[in-house]
Amino acid sequence: MRIAQLSDIHVNDGRYEQALIDTAVDEVNADAPDLVVIAGDLTANGYREEFESARERLDRLRCPEVVYVPGNHDAMSVGYLHFEDLFGPRAHRRVIDVADTGRVQVVCVDSSKPDIDDGEVGRELYGWIADGFSGEAELRVFVMHHHLVAIPATGRDRNQVWDAGDLLELLRSLRVDIVLGGHRHVPHVWPIGAMFLVHSGTASTRRVRGYAHPSYNMVTVTADLLEVEMRVPGAERELLARFARPVGLAGQWRPVEAARPMRGMGL
Ligand SMILES: [Fe+2]
Ligand SMILES: [Fe+2]
Repeated sequence: MRIAQLSDIHVNDGRYEQALIDTAVDEVNADAPDLVVIAGDLTANGYREEFESARERLDRLRCPEVVYVPGNHDAMSVGYLHFEDLFGPRAHRRVIDVADTGRVQVVCVDSSKPDIDDGEVGRELYGWIADGFSGEAELRVFVMHHHLVAIPATGRDRNQVWDAGDLLELLRSLRVDIVLGGHRHVPHVWPIGAMFLVHSGTASTRRVRGYAHPSYNMVTVTADLLEVEMRVPGAERELLARFARPVGLAGQWRPVEAARPMRGMGL
């Protein structure tokens, strides 16, 4: 199964470049993934015309399965109302049947709060999340904008979701395989036991410092491997992480190639 993961599009930001998102969409269309995840911060300020422009750019995606969650920028003031009008419910779940994989459960939540950068999912959603991951599945995918664990090379962390501990425990107990998010504009993969926290960079802005570039992720899951490729729209592609799947219930994911250390960290 292939999942294209894009986030932090930030339409109308001073450092937004429409050509980057258009190129990324063209590349994703060419690869025809099974699922496209848009992991929040579609806009700069949560204004309606920004959402309309994001909708226009993303309507070019040809994948039949595209899921969206809002980010903190989309939730400014009551910006989330425009998100709901143009992109649908802020929390949703679905099951998709993927030819070479089988039954895949996808649960998406809104981790944003109006007018603050911090995030929280909230315990009132935990039962609904658990229902979305009940029953048999070959792969369980959880999507939210914010992060559960701090991302290296993004400064001093302030925006881990408030209920990160509870969520990590909940998602682990529900046997979630992959958590997809964005927010810090830097791609990263954290293996947490048998679960992977995969973050995409900013797809279409120059809101990156040091030597990071705008990027999105292509996540590939096979019977043997989980692989995350970072792609700069129209430019380089780089393997971010490759892990071998565990064999049997007691198996541990084994890094084939560990997550790439961020350049500029002196590692
Ligand atoms: Fe962002
Ligand atoms: Fe964000």
